[in-house]
Amino acid sequence: MSAGDSFYIATPIFYVNDVPHIGHAYTEVAADVLARWHRQRGEDAWLLTGTDEHGQKILRTAVANNTTPQERADRLVADSWQPLLETIDIANDDFIRTTDERHEKAVATFLQRLYDDGHIYAGEYEGYYCVGCEEYKQLDDLVTTPDGEYKGQLVCAIHSRPVEILKEKNYFFRMSDFGQKLLDLYESQPDFVQPASVRNEIVQFVKQGLDDLSISRSSFDWGVKVPWDETHVVYVWFDALLNYVSAIGYGVDDEQFAKRWPAVQLVGKDIARFHAVIWPAMLMAAGLPVPRAVFGHGWLLVGGEKMSKSKLTGIAPSQITDTFGSDAFRYYFMSAITFGQDGSFSWEDLSARYQAELANGFGNLASRVIAMVNKYFDGEIPALGELTASDEAIVATQKRATEKSNTFIDKFAINEALSSVWELVDELNGYITEQEPWALSKDPAKRERLGTVLATTVNGLGTLAILLSPVLPKATAKLWTAIGGVGELSEQRIDDAQSWSHSGRVTALESSLFPRIEVDAESGTA
Ligand code: MSP
Repeated sequence: MSAGDSFYIATPIFYVNDVPHIGHAYTEVAADVLARWHRQRGEDAWLLTGTDEHGQKILRTAVANNTTPQERADRLVADSWQPLLETIDIANDDFIRTTDERHEKAVATFLQRLYDDGHIYAGEYEGYYCVGCEEYKQLDDLVTTPDGEYKGQLVCAIHSRPVEILKEKNYFFRMSDFGQKLLDLYESQPDFVQPASVRNEIVQFVKQGLDDLSISRSSFDWGVKVPWDETHVVYVWFDALLNYVSAIGYGVDDEQFAKRWPAVQLVGKDIARFHAVIWPAMLMAAGLPVPRAVFGHGWLLVGGEKMSKSKLTGIAPSQITDTFGSDAFRYYFMSAITFGQDGSFSWEDLSARYQAELANGFGNLASRVIAMVNKYFDGEIPALGELTASDEAIVATQKRATEKSNTFIDKFAINEALSSVWELVDELNGYITEQEPWALSKDPAKRERLGTVLATTVNGLGTLAILLSPVLPKATAKLWTAIGGVGELSEQRIDDAQSWSHSGRVTALESSLFPRIEVDAESGTA
């Protein structure tokens, strides 16, 4: 993609039955990093996130808390979900709630269109339903528990709770018509579902044949009303998936819709089937383009299991950011876990990487270089003299780090993009040790050489500020100001990172980029 192109990226919308944990924050950060990166390529990037507020799960939690689902959703959105974005520094362009009028209208328009075109019929549903997943289940998806509270009962393999037996008159979407079309899509657009592990699972699933999908419920009324039969509400997933198009003006603002759609969609692998099977089938039925790509990322594990609130392993993002800050939160999850695979979280690993990579690696490099320019050149960035092979090697690494990270971002390999940039951090640290500017400063005959060494490292810092800005927006903004960067850092182009050079002044860093934190290894708290 090139400058000026539209890049629309969306996170799943989060259930408001509870407060956010770091698993939710993980998807948000990844999407935000990609959006910021594409913005710095000069593309018209648009990041959407939001909340999923209908359905039985939300209704039941509200009733259990003696409130209405709308009141509970309003409170959780205002007190927890919107503040989360601030906590982890997400620069989203829009926030959609499925209770927004714009969304409910779009759902009704979309459904009516499918109904008018013969993709929907009335039928009878009899089968299992897991309220935790908000999903109709096949026998294969269930297990019999050998012990515990539900001993001998059929439970959902994900939630370990009993499923319910449903027998209802429902409206059905003729999803079975789309099996072959979906297989053709996976074949002709091999990067539609990523990574390969998720793609294989999806292809296998669709090859077994698709059933029609029950898309309405009549036993409760917390949802969008089916436009031609108000005794039914729309199935929560059918409703929720439409957020990606309702937010960009589906049915009301054709110009905006045409400019943004299709989106790149990041989802946890647990909900990849909804996004890579049901969602494209719905879009095909409506005659709309399918997403550009659906990327299923892995789970954050705690004690070897998917971290979740219901299993009491949830960790609130603020538990981490209160001590380490939002930049460290973003960096840790983006660099320590291969995007697309599961990863274990531990306080020890977080503190160790904070100390080694952010405080000692990057932060220390920045403060040393800036302090030396202040000390030896009164803050004036010296001119480059003749370059030696060591200086040329740094210039080559600036170029390589820029090119490699940019390529990895297109493959959703965020952790590899970061390691490519870190090659420059490590090389700059090695270069300073080897060039010994403090020794050069003692010999007036080596003044020009000292200038070249410091100018080379300041240039390297400029490259780092630009390339790391999507992941570490706060620290890099401080660094950018300190090295006298011109203009907003977030507006600097990724391509320009490779040859950044500047002949102004540095100022002192207002504080170290990543202050030393004494952490209690057991509790993880400062
Ligand atoms: N509301 C649906 C999505 C509808 S999108 C049209 C939903 N919500 S959720 O709140 O349960 O999950 C939202 C996202 O958080 C999912 O992508 C899910 O994979 C992710 N995560 C929840 N727990 C997680 C981990 N422990 N680790 C990583 N991501 C996790 O599903």
